[in-house]
Amino acid sequence: MLILGLESSCDETAAALVTGDRRILAHRLAGQEAAHTPYGGVVPEIAARAHVEALMPLVEGAMADAGVSLRDVDAIAATAGPGLIGGVMVGLVTAKALALAAGKPMVAVNHLEGHALSPRLADPDLAYPYLLLLVSGGHCQLLEVRGVGDYRRLATTIDDAAGEAFDKSAKVLGLGFPGGPAVERAAALGDPRAVPLPRPLVGSGEPHFSFAGLKSAVLRAHEAGIHSAEDIAASFQQAVVDCLIDRTRLALRRADRPTALVVAGGVAANAAVRGALTALAAQHDLPFVAPPGWLCTDNAAMIAWAGAERFAAGLTDPLDVPARARWPLDPTAEKARGAGVKA
Ligand code: KG4
Ligand code: ZN
Repeated sequence: MLILGLESSCDETAAALVTGDRRILAHRLAGQEAAHTPYGGVVPEIAARAHVEALMPLVEGAMADAGVSLRDVDAIAATAGPGLIGGVMVGLVTAKALALAAGKPMVAVNHLEGHALSPRLADPDLAYPYLLLLVSGGHCQLLEVRGVGDYRRLATTIDDAAGEAFDKSAKVLGLGFPGGPAVERAAALGDPRAVPLPRPLVGSGEPHFSFAGLKSAVLRAHEAGIHSAEDIAASFQQAVVDCLIDRTRLALRRADRPTALVVAGGVAANAAVRGALTALAAQHDLPFVAPPGWLCTDNAAMIAWAGAERFAAGLTDPLDVPARARWPLDPTAEKARGAGVKA
């Protein structure tokens, strides 16, 4: 089985070819850093236009790398949401056109399912159900991954996502964009105990996350002018790690006999996050699974792989499947108490 996957939900345009037996034959990616840097964040309209220009050359490049043509592909998978709607539409419409032209089935992939199943692409031994900490720029959730399309959300953020907190803190500290890797580099040069920062919701019986207060505390620490950006970055990163670990520990108590503790999403590329989760899993006698860094941040291999899992399960979509700005993995999950408008 050979799946072509497309990704365009945020600020990375990507195309990949992945087989049903987990071989990544090709993956190409074009970032948009230069286009968004002057604005200090992703501008949706600029992102959508950049996807239009980048996508087809990436598809052709990936097929050339793999030495295959559309005829060899069994299905075409694309992110259909959630994300910036203009970008999602670019990838989805492209996938529909390719599917129609080549007479191939189409698989509409939830971007979060791409992240959620990416650890199974990296590790053939990872079996359902597993407890997943999904930490990206747009989401911060704890999920029981019970099977393809079968998710139970145990926790979500009531305000900002963890990656968003990294990005906003980087902006405040003048470390540049994208913020996560910049904060991690600065943190390596600082003292994580230098600046007292809050750990929102740590110790709470409510299962959820909150990062807005931490973000504001970073702003206040910066404005106070006492500590270096490196010390604030290191202290901030430690506070995020402490929050993630505390909330994940609670979820481990509530999860139904997971086979492993798993992390995915852009923030999972962070070495401090991975290190702390490794220790937490060991305390619970669970294997710890984290995809390599490039598979944690947005890419098309994870979309192709989620497409492969869905296709193998007989799940394809009609050509009028819509793009969705919002698309929860667990539609039955109740809104977190105290949550703002972000879901
Ligand atoms: O999964 P992703 O590529 O895109 C979304 O679906 O959101 O995640 C991007 C997020 C950004 O907020 C970025 O700052 C963060 O992941 N990130 C990191 C690191 N690399 C990326 N955060 C902390 N440390 C990193 N090394
Ligand atoms: Zn993502």
